[in-house]
Amino acid sequence: MALIKASIVGATGYTGAILTDLLSGHPDVRMHALTSKAYIGRKVSGVFPGLRVDGTYTEYSAGAVSGSDVAFVCYPHGEAHGVVAELVDKGCRVVDLSADYRLKDPAAYQSWYGFVHPHFDLLQEAVFGLPERYRAEIAKARIVANPGCYPTAMLLSVLPAAAEIDSSVIVDAKSGVSGAGRTPSQKTHFCEVNGDFRAYSEVGHRHTAEMVQELGLAAGKALGVSFTPHLLPVDRGIFSTAYFRLAKGLMGTDRLLARYREFYADEAFVEVCDHVPGLGEVTGTNYCRLTVREDAAAGLVKVFAVIDNLVKGASGQAVQNMNCMFGRPEDAGLRRKV
Ligand SMILES: NC(=O)c1ccc[n+]([C@@H]2O[C@H](COP(=O)([O-])OP(=O)(O)OC[C@H]3O[C@@H](n4cnc5c(N)ncnc54)[C@H](OP(=O)(O)O)[C@@H]3O)[C@@H](O)[C@H]2O)c1
Repeated sequence: MALIKASIVGATGYTGAILTDLLSGHPDVRMHALTSKAYIGRKVSGVFPGLRVDGTYTEYSAGAVSGSDVAFVCYPHGEAHGVVAELVDKGCRVVDLSADYRLKDPAAYQSWYGFVHPHFDLLQEAVFGLPERYRAEIAKARIVANPGCYPTAMLLSVLPAAAEIDSSVIVDAKSGVSGAGRTPSQKTHFCEVNGDFRAYSEVGHRHTAEMVQELGLAAGKALGVSFTPHLLPVDRGIFSTAYFRLAKGLMGTDRLLARYREFYADEAFVEVCDHVPGLGEVTGTNYCRLTVREDAAAGLVKVFAVIDNLVKGASGQAVQNMNCMFGRPEDAGLRRKV
């Protein structure tokens, strides 16, 4: 099989750096362009001394990047949609790591992200890039909208039960600081975060929109989501706890575990375990580990899930999507730690 020619647009952020690492070690990939605005002309190893990768950052141009079979766009939301449209127009397939193609309702971009989405048709065409749910559609897609990190953990937690959830899901999730990207800010400054712990965006975090959209599609009816993110004083990882009631009432932890195990039996990257998993079990990997319990006294189901926000929550999932798009084994290039 021919090598896949891949480019990364916005390669100097956290997700771009992990993608650079993953793709340079992928047996079926040949790296093409690595673009940047701030580091044009600088060597990868000069910007990220920990990355043993040859290559120099270049300025983005649609002409240069569109010579690739696939481009990974790692820009902030609101900055990515134009680049994605340009590349697709030139015949390049795209995995967009931003939120710019995740929501189907164009009006949602105005209310959740504060901009008018100019590419209605492409929005309808884009496939939500959760392989465990949409791998057949991803295989044919021109645009794959890589899910957000929190929605990845939340959706994998609820999909096996979605059709039976009564009315809503509460999501209580904690993320490491790299979830905020590489640009420094006071909120993510070491002295502000180290030794502290708190919730943020306590009502209406933007990821709620894609959780509601995808949960509703999986359940076949509209369900509510109340999502509270927290900032953990660690660099990587998400610990998510989802709470919901089943419309038909209690079924017991053993049956729930059996249901979840059966649902994910053929998945390379979702591991249903007996114990409550910790972040350290998945850091640097593309795995989601989860377990489920029934809290009979409260009439609730609780699902505990962990992922690495930069791998299964971003760059690893993006590579898993590329593998689907180009007919490669889903785990190709994803079996080592990054
Ligand atoms: N971090 C996570 O855990 C995570 C998880 C899932 C999804 N995502 C999404 O993936 C995308 C990339 O995230 P990231 O964490 O890699 O972000 P980041 O560390 O802040 O990097 C952003 C990249 O975009 C480039 N860029 C281009 N235009 C920019 C602009 N106007 N402002 C700032 N940077 C600009 C930056 O570098 P140059 O200046 O060199 O071009 C850099 O390469 C975002 O949309 C994010 O929401 C992130």
